[in-house]
Amino acid sequence: MTPVPRRDEVLLGASTLKLPIIAPSILSADFARLADELAILDPSRDWVHCDVMDHRFVPNLTFGPPVVAAVERVTTAYIDAHLMVEHPEAMVREFRDAGADQITIHLEACANPGAALATVRASGARAGLAIKPMTPLDAAAPWLDAIDALLVMSVEPGFGGQRFIPAALDKLRDARERRASAGLRFLIGVDGGIAPDTAPLVREAGADVLIAGNAVFGQAHPADALAALRASVAG
Ligand code: DX5
Ligand code: ZN
Repeated sequence: MTPVPRRDEVLLGASTLKLPIIAPSILSADFARLADELAILDPSRDWVHCDVMDHRFVPNLTFGPPVVAAVERVTTAYIDAHLMVEHPEAMVREFRDAGADQITIHLEACANPGAALATVRASGARAGLAIKPMTPLDAAAPWLDAIDALLVMSVEPGFGGQRFIPAALDKLRDARERRASAGLRFLIGVDGGIAPDTAPLVREAGADVLIAGNAVFGQAHPADALAALRASVAG
């Protein structure tokens, strides 16, 4: 398992964090060549995003802990497991044991979000809370002081390669304001339709972590595509 950064190393204001973090999603990668695909990451700054789908919470079906374990074997980058599954709390131990540094669960998937987030933290993983495009930030407000990362979905979860939903920008701004006024340090991520044209917009609106599948691994030259994405938000 990757040496886990201390909790305060993955929070806003941490001296070791270089923002924005780019988190390529393996959803668009060639699963037969995961080691080669992940070799384009800079593990000192990039995260790897693993999209877990159960064909229940979302219409699509992807992979479980064994693939996260395979990712962990070939990269030292920080692994965020984005669980688009019902009852995510039931699978926390397995994903943590597979090597997930962060486990991001969906507010909409939890009967008891507070207990589910506590289960994630008790596992030793950082706790992420994701909200779908139609879920207002207000719904997540009670748990903002119990998370390490908020994930604002900018597409309906389920598939890569969808078009960015601009309403996510207001949600990002709102999240940044609430974080500041409450004196909190969770990172704000955005997931869906992020590419060199949308990345500067979400960065300006408050995103610290930019997740991108199609714009990296869906391109003919993923290393160049990752560099172009980084350049679009540099400085
Ligand atoms: C969608 C996933 C995303 C997806 C993003 O349900 O959560 O992480 O991989 O893909 P792109 O960047 O292609 O929109
Ligand atoms: Zn995702």
